[in-house]
Amino acid sequence: MLGSDLHKQLSADHEVVGMDKEEIDIVCADDCKKAVAEVNPAIVINAAAFTDVDGCEAQRDACFAVNAEAVKNICLACRDRDIKIIHFSTDYVFDGKAQSPYREQDVCNPINVYGESKLAGELYLQSLSDNYLLIRTSWLYGVNGKNFVRTILERAKAKRFIHDTMARAGARRQTHSSTLSVVDDQLGSPTYTKDLAAAVELLISQNHKGIFHVTNRGHCSWYEFAVRILKEAGVDNVEVKPIKTSQMPRPAMRPAYSVLSMQKFISLTGKAPQPWQLALQDYLKNINAIN
Ligand SMILES: NC(=O)c1ccc[n+]([C@@H]2O[C@H](COP(=O)([O-])OP(=O)(O)OC[C@H]3O[C@@H](n4cnc5c(N)ncnc54)[C@H](OP(=O)(O)O)[C@@H]3O)[C@@H](O)[C@H]2O)c1
Repeated sequence: MLGSDLHKQLSADHEVVGMDKEEIDIVCADDCKKAVAEVNPAIVINAAAFTDVDGCEAQRDACFAVNAEAVKNICLACRDRDIKIIHFSTDYVFDGKAQSPYREQDVCNPINVYGESKLAGELYLQSLSDNYLLIRTSWLYGVNGKNFVRTILERAKAKRFIHDTMARAGARRQTHSSTLSVVDDQLGSPTYTKDLAAAVELLISQNHKGIFHVTNRGHCSWYEFAVRILKEAGVDNVEVKPIKTSQMPRPAMRPAYSVLSMQKFISLTGKAPQPWQLALQDYLKNINAIN
């Protein structure tokens, strides 16, 4: 999802060599060395990850292999060459107990395996490279890939289909047939991968290094996000019901509050990404999802 938007964004002014899993398995140290030697890049950007947060709980080793050990492989492949590494991490490295946006230097304390593995990847990067950009982001959605916005639109479409079919069949009881339940006690910042890719290009052009938090501006709960998605898409016959996380148990725990502070990015770059509501409108237009 992010990788393809980065490729598109950066290709305008840079020579970009995109590689997917068929061309490079980042878990394989030799693949990483070979790719770096062949391409001889100025910058290596790692947008690959094991991103199935619930799947990580059951597949801890596979998750650590991609999110942590592979970062070591990339760092070692770039060692002794003048290569900048750009790597992505997550709001899930924090425990979600804060009440104000997390800053780059705040203490990490992940509460699920995905967060632990991403933090381990961060630590490899910080200890094995002195020329890196570590970008923590959150709640991504983009044109290429499975994401919350698409899921809500698909679920709403399915609910409407059931509702309309029942109505046509004259069913008397249609209770809940057009209601979606979404958690209202997890707060974060939805982020459009196209805006994140533009922010990455800005950080590159200004030659920044170190840790940066980058998201669209503002925050909401998943429930508020779902309501806004359906409103912007013009879906008015599906109701969204707020529920608590405890009513929808999942294998991985989620931080209750994972808003990342954009203060450092804004003060050092002089630019601010657009608010999440405007980014959502852009995205829905791009995927032709507005009724
Ligand atoms: N999605 C979010 O909400 C979110 C939030 C915060 C941070 N992030 C971080 O942002 C970055 C980009 O996330 P995303 O959502 O764009 O990810 P994504 O859509 O899941 O893409 C990850 C890609 O990595 C590939 N990959 C997995 N294992 C690999 C391996 N061993 N070698 C090479 N490629 C491999 C996957 O290929 P296959 O599909 O073929 O396995 C997939 O194409 C990641 O670092 C992620 O942790 C994501």
